[in-house]
Amino acid sequence: MHDDLARSLGRLSELALAYAQLDDSDPVRPVLDPDHAVDSLGLALPALGMDIDSVLDRVARVLAATPSTSGPRFFNQLFAGRDPAAAVADMLASLANNSMYTYKVAGPMVLIENLLVREMGRLAGFEDAEGVFTPGGSLSNLAALLCARNAAVPHARDRGVDGRPLRVYSSADAHYSIRKGVGMLGMGRDNLVSIPCDAEGRMDPVALEAAVVADRATGLTPVMINATAGTTVQGAFDPLDALADVAERQGVWLHVDGAYGGTMLLSEPRRHLLAGLHRADSFTWDAHKMMGVPLVCSVILVRKRGLLTALLNESASYLFQGDTDLYNPGTRSLQCGRRNDVLKLWAAWQYHGLTGFAARVERQLLLANQLADRVAAAPDFSLLRRPASLNVCFELTGKPSDAICARLHELGLAMVGHATVNERCVIRTACVNPDLRAEDLEALLDAIREVGATLP
Ligand SMILES: Cc1ncc(COP(=O)(O)O)c(C=O)c1O
Repeated sequence: MHDDLARSLGRLSELALAYAQLDDSDPVRPVLDPDHAVDSLGLALPALGMDIDSVLDRVARVLAATPSTSGPRFFNQLFAGRDPAAAVADMLASLANNSMYTYKVAGPMVLIENLLVREMGRLAGFEDAEGVFTPGGSLSNLAALLCARNAAVPHARDRGVDGRPLRVYSSADAHYSIRKGVGMLGMGRDNLVSIPCDAEGRMDPVALEAAVVADRATGLTPVMINATAGTTVQGAFDPLDALADVAERQGVWLHVDGAYGGTMLLSEPRRHLLAGLHRADSFTWDAHKMMGVPLVCSVILVRKRGLLTALLNESASYLFQGDTDLYNPGTRSLQCGRRNDVLKLWAAWQYHGLTGFAARVERQLLLANQLADRVAAAPDFSLLRRPASLNVCFELTGKPSDAICARLHELGLAMVGHATVNERCVIRTACVNPDLRAEDLEALLDAIREVGATLP
């Protein structure tokens, strides 16, 4: 082994421990002025290299100044927290540096990927699933759109989409990656039909069917219905069974974007939120959100084995030289070189087991409900609605939510986002970190009050 590699690996645990401990003393980190931070943190790229200890000291300095997504004041995103098994497995996957396209290069990592695809498919109700890990829910959704388009217009891969209008249907509350994907695939973003939601943020199946029928009547080609299991802002679940009825009657590909809420499959009391999923054609599930695995860890699953490879594969004799497609996941991936995102999920699964993951979800739900209870009981707050899953949306009555979030961040009190729901700007919190305590929720509300008092 190279001496410097031995030296840097030797320092790894000291650096990692010091970094993780910062969450206790400095849970948010000061906001850096982006126009000056390159200088103040010494980020400039040198012409000459330096010794390994100086490099690691620099890395530690940058890390210490980087916003924490694991501390007890982070409510800003749909991921949070650190997993002891997955974090270390991920570091080691970097060290191993396999590429996940062939069994020849990735060996047992491919077997792990296949096991996870099979088990996650089974949990989704896809008894004979095919799938592949992708760099995030947006890319899993893109793969689903591509499959649906290639299934609806088989010549599209070879001859292009020939100008015929292809329609995709998605709720007004769906994630923006659907819109982005429709644009990327040349279907035209104007052909994404936005279906209204009910008061709880769930897609209306009657309006959906009316839109599909009307489009068919005017010669347009329906390609995909995108349902969301766990919407980004409200954490709402579209009624999958009713949407599957529409998809079946109309003969349209049904995709379920469970990037966020797919993990509810692991919770016995909440699995019903995804009832009907087993009838979908494809399913996106991010393990880097509610399952707590480090970014990125997303899988695209299709119900029928063989379909993903049939709709996406390319031949490359310089790469796929042995083994069947089953053991060469590159044949069903959007990527060529691909990072190993499965070792960390497999390690987390060994550590928690299915029961541990379920307990994690129950704890997250408990926290979200505790926060909602506190907000509902406080006369100065107004709760948008009871949480469908982990997201709690509310306002400090009479105060602008966007300004509150900005001030909380500037003052280093908490990191929280805001969103617009029914033309109301609300504070959106996501209780994804299961290590939060009741006092962290109270501290958040106190900080919001404190900041609110300084605003007009
Ligand atoms: C419902 C939904 N779908 C897709 C995505 C995109 O996932 P990723 O950030 O992994 O690309 C998100 C991200 O928050 C999401 O909430």
